[in-house]
Order: sequence, then structure tokens, then C-alpha cells
Amino acid sequence: MDETKKIFRYRFLAEEIEQKIMNGTYQPGERLPSIRKLHKQSNLSISTIYHAYMELESMGLVEARPKSGYYVNPLALQNLKAPRFKKVSFPPKKVRLSSMVNSVISAISNPYLLPLGSTVADSELMPFKHFSRILKDLSHADVKSMISYSLSEGLPELRRQIALRTVGVLEGITPEDIIITNGCMEAVALSLLAIARPGDTIAIETPTNFGFLQLLQELGLLVMEVPADPRYGVDLDELENIFRRNSIKACLLIPNFHNPLGALMPDDHKIRLIQLINEYKIPVIEDDISSELHFERKRPMPLKSFDQEDRVITCSSFSKTLAPGLRIGWVIPGKRLMEKVQNLKAATTVSTSTLDQYLVSKYLADGAFERHLRQLRTTLKKQVVRTALAIQKHFPSGTRLAIPDGGTLLWVELPPQVAGLKVYHKALDHHIAIIPGVVCSNSRQFENFIQMSCGTPFTEDLDRGIVRLGEIVSDLSRQ
Ligand SMILES: Cc1ncc(COP(=O)(O)O)c(C=O)c1O
Repeated sequence: MDETKKIFRYRFLAEEIEQKIMNGTYQPGERLPSIRKLHKQSNLSISTIYHAYMELESMGLVEARPKSGYYVNPLALQNLKAPRFKKVSFPPKKVRLSSMVNSVISAISNPYLLPLGSTVADSELMPFKHFSRILKDLSHADVKSMISYSLSEGLPELRRQIALRTVGVLEGITPEDIIITNGCMEAVALSLLAIARPGDTIAIETPTNFGFLQLLQELGLLVMEVPADPRYGVDLDELENIFRRNSIKACLLIPNFHNPLGALMPDDHKIRLIQLINEYKIPVIEDDISSELHFERKRPMPLKSFDQEDRVITCSSFSKTLAPGLRIGWVIPGKRLMEKVQNLKAATTVSTSTLDQYLVSKYLADGAFERHLRQLRTTLKKQVVRTALAIQKHFPSGTRLAIPDGGTLLWVELPPQVAGLKVYHKALDHHIAIIPGVVCSNSRQFENFIQMSCGTPFTEDLDRGIVRLGEIVSDLSRQ
């Protein structure tokens, strides 16, 4: 049998058992059928079953007990309770960022701290060797062409490669519909500049990516924070109420694998959201940066795939999948805003680094991206599950979290008396970086929340870090 078929077989079996563990069909502590028994009762080979069990063991979902067999981890993830959210909205408000934000940014970028707050995956998991080969193969003539400006909308080959990736996801996108940006943040910034003026109100999820709050503050925009469900994203009833009563210039949302919630908006919610924005004629800037990091087999659809009236502006980048430092992102502004966004791009940053664009377009053209993504998704899923299990084991009761269906982030609700900010400071004393939930909102909500990242390989050091965090949270919960 060819290798890929073998891989799929063991993954299918691992996924099937994983689902049965998650939905309680297999009980915590229960013994899995022996490899020999399963082999006899199915047409699966010993090696397929063995690999599937190993896969589940590496996720921490089962344990191998010497001379006894494989057992479901007694800590059952199905017992996890999702974090709660309050259905309260606030009037439009200027963004006043907590003074903590700069300290948090330097902590999560400090390479000497345990990176439990980073919002991107570790470079170790990225194809840096492939990039290195591309760089080595560059001729003098190549480099000569790359030290000049590229077109402000981007290198044609990179735009073509990105357009190719929209096949089956977004209908009818051509290279000319895409503008290359310096990361997803520039894509979002240009979209906001194209739509809104200082003093206008933007509806955002709460909590949200604190980078957005920084941007909205600097652009002089007001925000209306809309409550978001930690599993399904923005609350559409609240959003409709807000549309009815306020003048909203645009929404800025993260429907797929939200930062910091990890929430995934179901398709029927996306369809209703599109109906709402069409009814109220309000554009949505969607940040689709993490949707390639799905743990299920299918990629979640961007909001734009449901948009027939050209009201959704899609922003994304390769920061979560390839290389955050290359700063390669893109915006699909749609026909209404194309010219405006193009002019803004030319007038602000002129163009994106030609060399960085070349590197990414060559990498994509080499055809290794899909394989890398498959590997990355599997690794991240394992890291997410292991981190969630470790939190469940070491944090005190009253801690709540949900396992996301993709991405690298866990949104953790701590017992009510535990301030995430105190946890943040005490963790720093132990060289651990996390994100206190309070910086993810403009109205100082989420005081007893923290955001943790699973982008780093799950080593013993990391496990020890989570044990230490658990001790910090337990101590604070007793005070
Ligand atoms: C939701 C979201 N959007 C945007 C960004 C920033 O993206 P970029 O580095 O491509 O500008 C991040 C970074 O973590 C993010 O989580």
C-alpha cells in the first residue's frame, strides 16, 4: 500500500477513537481494545492500529501501561466546561488601551521567557530550511531585481499563488482582486482607513485581538464591543440590536479561530451575519488569518464565501502558517473598495518588501505548502490537547476552557476571585509569559481570564511551566 494511504488509515482510526473519547463513548480510564483484538475484528493492520494508538498517546488522550495495554487518560477532556460570556453591550467608546499592553507585548516577544502567550507558532515548526534553500539558490541577477520596488499591489506571481489558494473557497478571485500587504495588520489598517474616519464607530467582538484595539485607538475610531461566545463567536442577536440602535461604520471580526477565544463561527451563523449586514448595509472586515489551521478535515469557509453583495473585506497573512517575520499578508477588498485600498497602500508603505514576497511566492510555487500545513495542523492539535489536559490537571477547580477546532490559542476562565493580571505578574517572576484577559477588551472585562498559546512544542519545560502557573492560580484562588 502506498505511504499516504497508510498515513490516512491510521489517522482515520486515531480520529475515530478520539471522537469516541471526546463524546464519552470511551470512559476516562477505560482500556482500549488490545491491538491484536482490534486487528482480528477489523481489517486494519497491526501497524495501522499501533500508529493510531501512538498518535493518541502523543496527544495525551491515552496512556500506555506496560504489559497491560492502552487506557483512556483518566482526565477526560469531555469534562471541560467552556468559559462563560456575558451578554452585555457598551455604548460606543474611544479606545483607551490599558497601560499594560506594552509590557504584555514585550513579555510575549521576549525569547528568554516560556512562550505561553505568543500568538504565532514556534519557528521550529515552520519550513525555515526550505526558505534557507531558496535564499542560497538566489543569483546576483535575482537579488538585483529584488532590491527594487515591487508594484504597490504586490508581485504578480505571489498574487497568482494566493489566488490559486482560493479555488474551492472563494469564487472567482483572480490575482487582480488581491493586494499584498505587510502582514494581516496592514491589511486590516488599510481596510479601516478606506471605510472609516476618526470618530466613526466600529463594532468588534469582545474580547478581541489586543492588536486591533491598539490600531483602533491610533486611528481615532470608537468601538462598540459585542459579546462573543467562546465557541461560536460574535453574538448575532446582540449585533442586530446594536445595528438597530447605533450608527456603525463597519464591523471588524475574526469568524474563524478567533484570537483570543479560539471560537469558530458556524456556517449558519455566517449566513445570518451576511443577511444582517446586507439589511443594514454595513461592511465587515474579516480577519481570516488562522483558518488554515483547522483540526477537522475541512477548512472553515471565510465569511466572504457567503457574500453576494460585496460587503466583506477579507484580510489574511502567512504569519500563522509560514513566517510572521516575513510580513506577507493580503487583502481582498472587493470591487467597491479596491481602488481606495490600492491608493492607500501606495500612499502609505509604497509596496511590500520584494525579497520577502519573492521568498513566499517561490515557496508556494515549489508545492510544499500543503504538506507543511498538514504536518503543522497535526502538531498544533496535539499541542493544544496536551496543554488543555495539563491545565485541567494542574489548575484549581473552577477553571474553565474549551478545546478549539483550530489555531493555537486557549482562552482560560480562572476562578472568579483570581485576577489574570496578578497571574501575569507572578508568572513573569517565574519567566513565563501569558496574556492577561483584561488587555483584550476596551471595557476592562475578563479580569479573571488569561490567554494561553499552544504554538510551542510541548516539552518537559513547558509542562513544568504549566504546573507552576497552576500553583500560582491555586495560591491566588485561596487568598
Ligand atoms: C487575529 C490576528 N490578526 C492579526 C494578527 C497579526 O498578523 P500579522 O503578523 O500578519 O500582521 C494576529 C497575530 O497574532 C492575529 O492573531
